[in-house]
This record gives sequence, C-alpha cells and structure tokens, in this order.
Amino acid sequence: MLCVLLILTMGCALRRVALVPTAETRGNVVVVATKTTKPRVIFCLGGPGAGKGTQCERLADFGYVHLSAGDLLRRERASGSADGDLIESYISEGRIVPVALSLGLLRKEMERLDAARFVIDGFPRNQDNLDGWKDLMTDFHVDCVLFYEVPVEELVKRMLSRGETSGRSDDTVSVAEKRIATFNDATMPLIDHWERTGEIKVIRIPGDRDVEEVWHLTKAAIEPYLAPCEE
Ligand code: ADP
Ligand code: C5P
Ligand code: MG
Repeated sequence: MLCVLLILTMGCALRRVALVPTAETRGNVVVVATKTTKPRVIFCLGGPGAGKGTQCERLADFGYVHLSAGDLLRRERASGSADGDLIESYISEGRIVPVALSLGLLRKEMERLDAARFVIDGFPRNQDNLDGWKDLMTDFHVDCVLFYEVPVEELVKRMLSRGETSGRSDDTVSVAEKRIATFNDATMPLIDHWERTGEIKVIRIPGDRDVEEVWHLTKAAIEPYLAPCEE
C-alpha cells in the first residue's frame, strides 16, 4: 500500500495560532496535516448590571481569559492617557466609545496575553463595535454570544447596589437610565440580528436567578465549545 506522508504546514501570520497535528486516510494515502486553530472567543452581553463580569470571571476555570471592554476603558482613562477625557465623556453619558478605541485596547490585550480562549465581556455593544470586529479580528473564531437577560428594575437595583462600593461614576440613577437606553437602542438590535440570521449563535440565559444558578446555566451553555476546534 502506498503511503505518502504529507506534511502541510499552513502559513500562520500570527504566532498564537496553534498547529494541531491530525491524520486521516484518503484512499490509500495517509495524510498527516497540521491544521491551524484560531484563538476562540465567546462574547458576553446583557444589560448593565446583568452579571456579565460575575459570570465571566468564573470562566477562568475553563481556561478562558476574561476581558471586559468597560474595564479596559476605565483602566485607560485612569492611566492618564490622551484618550482619558474622551472616554470619560462617553462613560458619563452611558454611550459607546468609537470602536477604534475599545477594539484597539482589546486587541492589544489579546495579543499580549496570547491565549487560546477569550471571553469578551461588554463587546460588541453596537453596530460600530461589530463592524470593527468583523474588519479587524478575522484571526479569531467567535463561538457564541452568552446573553444574560435581566428585567430593567433588577438591573437598576444591582447597579445602584454595586455603586455603593464600586466607585464607578456611572453606577448612579441618572447614568443607569442612559445605559439601559443605550442597551435597548444599540445592543439589542445586534442580538435580534444574530438570532434572525444565525450569524452567531446567541445563548439566552436568565440572569435574574441567584449567582450559582446562573453559573450552572453558563457552564452548560459553554460545554459544546470546550472541545478543540479546527478552523
Ligand atoms: P455587569 O458586568 O453585567 O455590569 P456585574 O457582574 O458587575 O454585572 O454585576 C452587577 C452587580 O450585581 C454586582 O454587584 C454583582 O455582585 C451583582 N450580581 C451579579 N450577578 C448577580 C445575581 N445573579 N444575582 C444578584 N446579584 C448579582
Ligand atoms: O461593560 P461596562 O458596564 O463596564 O461598561 C461601562 C461603560 O464603558 C459603558 O456604559 C460605555 O460607556 C463604555 N463601553 C463602551 N464600549 C464598550 C464597552 C463599554 O463604550 N464596548
Ligand atoms: Mg461588568
């Protein structure tokens, strides 16, 4: 039997793209190949105070690196960056900063951390965010969106309660209302679009249950994505 060993090494522009050896038989030819695997991403969305950060942090147990777009923006603002005032002007109005800024911070962190799995919390939050992601992040594979559903009254309650200790200038009644309006006007259309088109799988999770119960549902939701992926 003719056996041909064929090593295919696909060009990897990015050093973090993993090479996974695989073998298969095609007729009497054994093909041994190395396939590229892109780093995998789960998006995490939900209203402000829905519990995104609380759940995403726990995903570290499954090898996910948690990146919160809001945290990165706050850190950038605190760093004395030239963009600090601009970031503040958006955060204080509950508006979404231009994607060049948020995605620039995310991309830099993703490259620095060089991980195989990321859970990205609070991004993409509007069409501008999504367009930027599609243009610039083709070297990442998006598995799904975890979408935490929580009634508005509970969101406000949680934001105000967090505000007692968070020191966040936007955990106030007036900014909370604006953030919820932004969520309804800018983020919900993305969820609706993905559900209509199937472009990205949306997993709705009732986020108004207690933390442990939500965590149980979160673990079940990500289970299908824990196996190695080849894309
Ligand atoms: P987000 O990142 O979506 O804004 P957080 O994870 O920061 O939300 O949670 C907002 C507030 O609500 C925090 O004070 C957190 O401790 C609390 N919290 C999170 N999940 C729950 C839950 N399932 N039930 C009650 N409170 C929660
Ligand atoms: O997700 P988080 O509640 O931490 O976001 C806080 C604020 O950060 C948002 O209300 C918004 O002003 C800003 N933000 C943004 N773009 C994102 C995520 C957060 O402008 N993608
Ligand atoms: Mg958060």
